Amino acid sequence: MAGGMEASRAGGQNPQSFEALIIGAGFSGLYQLLSLRDRLGLSTRLLEAGAGVGGTWYWNRYPGARCDSESHSYCYTFSKDLLEEWEWTERYPAHPEIRRYLNHVADRFELRRDISFNSRVVAAEYDEEVNHWRIATENGGAFLAKYLIAAVGCLSAANVPSIPGLASFAGRWVHTGEWPHEGVDFRGTRVGLIGTGSTGIQAAPVIAETAGHLTVFQRTANYSVPARNGPLSRDFLGYLKKNHAAIRQLMHATPNGHAFAIEDRSAFDVSTDERLAIYEKAWEKGGLQFRASFRDLLVDKAANDTAADFIRGKIRQIVKDPATAAKLSNIDHPYAAKRPPIDTDYFETFNRDNVDLVDVRAEPIEAITPAGIQTRAREYPLDIIVFATGFDAMTGPLLRLNIRGRQGRSLAQAWQAGPRNYLGLQVAGFPNLFTVTGPGSPSVLCNMPVAIEQHVDWITACIEHLRSRGLERIEPLPDAVEGWVEEVNAAAKATLLPQAHHSWYLGANVPGKPRVFMPYAGGMAHYRGICDDIARRGYAGFRLSR
Ligand SMILES: Cc1cc2nc3c(=O)[nH]c(=O)nc-3n(C[C@H](O)[C@H](O)[C@H](O)COP(=O)(O)OP(=O)(O)OC[C@H]3O[C@@H](n4cnc5c(N)ncnc54)[C@H](O)[C@@H]3O)c2cc1C
Ligand SMILES: NC(=O)c1ccc[n+]([C@@H]2O[C@H](COP(=O)([O-])OP(=O)(O)OC[C@H]3O[C@@H](n4cnc5c(N)ncnc54)[C@H](OP(=O)(O)O)[C@@H]3O)[C@@H](O)[C@H]2O)c1
Repeated sequence: MAGGMEASRAGGQNPQSFEALIIGAGFSGLYQLLSLRDRLGLSTRLLEAGAGVGGTWYWNRYPGARCDSESHSYCYTFSKDLLEEWEWTERYPAHPEIRRYLNHVADRFELRRDISFNSRVVAAEYDEEVNHWRIATENGGAFLAKYLIAAVGCLSAANVPSIPGLASFAGRWVHTGEWPHEGVDFRGTRVGLIGTGSTGIQAAPVIAETAGHLTVFQRTANYSVPARNGPLSRDFLGYLKKNHAAIRQLMHATPNGHAFAIEDRSAFDVSTDERLAIYEKAWEKGGLQFRASFRDLLVDKAANDTAADFIRGKIRQIVKDPATAAKLSNIDHPYAAKRPPIDTDYFETFNRDNVDLVDVRAEPIEAITPAGIQTRAREYPLDIIVFATGFDAMTGPLLRLNIRGRQGRSLAQAWQAGPRNYLGLQVAGFPNLFTVTGPGSPSVLCNMPVAIEQHVDWITACIEHLRSRGLERIEPLPDAVEGWVEEVNAAAKATLLPQAHHSWYLGANVPGKPRVFMPYAGGMAHYRGICDDIARRGYAGFRLSR
């Protein structure tokens, strides 16, 4: 194991020097640290804004926060020993358990000694002369590194909408992605929850249990399928222990990296009755697998309509008040064209006496007042406002690093019209900068640990390739970037995904953000093949130099 080859650090001006610097201590950064330090022997430092490891699970501690990927697939697969020694307790573990897992990984592989916590990166500048990145942190730290790996996550920059009057609110407000570690006591309070994405849908039922009153502010009605969470049986845990390799193989073979196959049948290969029976069974089973009932749900609008109508029907059955049911089921986009939530009693929550739904399309939020939320129709008095309003996704965390490449050109300039890169991994003009699960890669359309391991392994092999040949730099050629941007656009257009015009996949949730479909929709297995092939061909499309 290589230790840190720390150069002198006498005060903030004298930078510490490393071969590689990683930003972010979530799933991505931890595995990247292990790979570069222990497999390649590079002197490596990891800088993390938070005070602990976990990334998403360090920050998202809101009530109800748990993964939607099933636990046996929401984990690393690179180590057989790790797979064998760790046992999940539930089908979808809650945030403390996932945090325990990632802390266990950090301890088991002795990662902590090479991590600086409370170290938010505020600038990263490429110095062409010496082929080094100069990195600065908010707390005055200065670092030099040949390789810079941004493992900052796709969903780590909280999006608090700028609603006039927020500063005047006399109560308390919180964003789910920056949840206070000590928790929030909702007992007896009047709570306003803005947002009905995966987060709001997880949080609402749990908040409603203790709040005096919960008002859910819905802008876009959303589909959701029951999660059907529960403890894992000894039998299932035993099955997992014997089948790690087969499960991994399955996750690597599917387009979305989950441990279930997509049925190879069209929604129209079966009769209406059979189709309904298939949906009914999938609804009872619960989870993201509902989406895998037919192969054409994401590419054929008519096929998609069959699933969408089924779910709308379920909402109307569950929700007793017809007016509320109508608002909840008035969904304007294809099923799963936005990231499909799964839930535990979300629609049932609206049958509680202490829960109301406000349709923000009919009565837009105009301001936040000292007393609560003012819509066009009336004021809602509140003690606590919960923003489940999502993230400046994918590009947000990268742009917030204030990266400057060759000739001082900023990433913000390079991406003015939306992200442009090669394979989601590298940007032209920014040598030796790698982005783990960057825009243009399958990332958020995939069960993310699968996408993360693939990227980290590819980056690690690429750096090893450079070192073993005495090469100093790698960056993509402009033509390759051009081609990849076209490929990403074409892959999205071949699906129904862009039809959800308000989706964060398109950047539409952040005012002023370029409307570009950001993740690569061509499927994880296909993407892995492309990346492997490019590496095999000596990193075709990249310029490698001394
Ligand atoms: C509530 C929630 C639930 C999710 N559930 C699932 C799921 O079920 N399945 C799934 O596949 N995916 C899920 N995701 C996506 C999730 O983000 C990924 O699964 C995974 O955790 C990403 O890991 P990461 O290391 O790439 O990024 P993150 O976990 O986001 O970690 C990035 C880290 O970088 C740090 N960082 C960012 N900027 C800076 C900076 N400037 N300086 C220093 N540090 C910085 C952050 O503090 C953070 O710790 C979920 C996301 C959310 C928000
Ligand atoms: N367990 C899980 O797997 C899990 C759980 C949570 C999150 N996640 C991940 O994180 C992603 C983000 O989820 P999220 O729910 O946090 O965010 P999101 O999907 O972006 O949802 C944000 C919600 O807030 C609403 N909103 C935003 N700004 C608003 C405004 N100014 N006024 C009124 N409403 C506003 C949005 O409405 P519009 O739709 O109209 O924009 C939307 O309903 C998910 O898609 C998923 O990838 C995963």
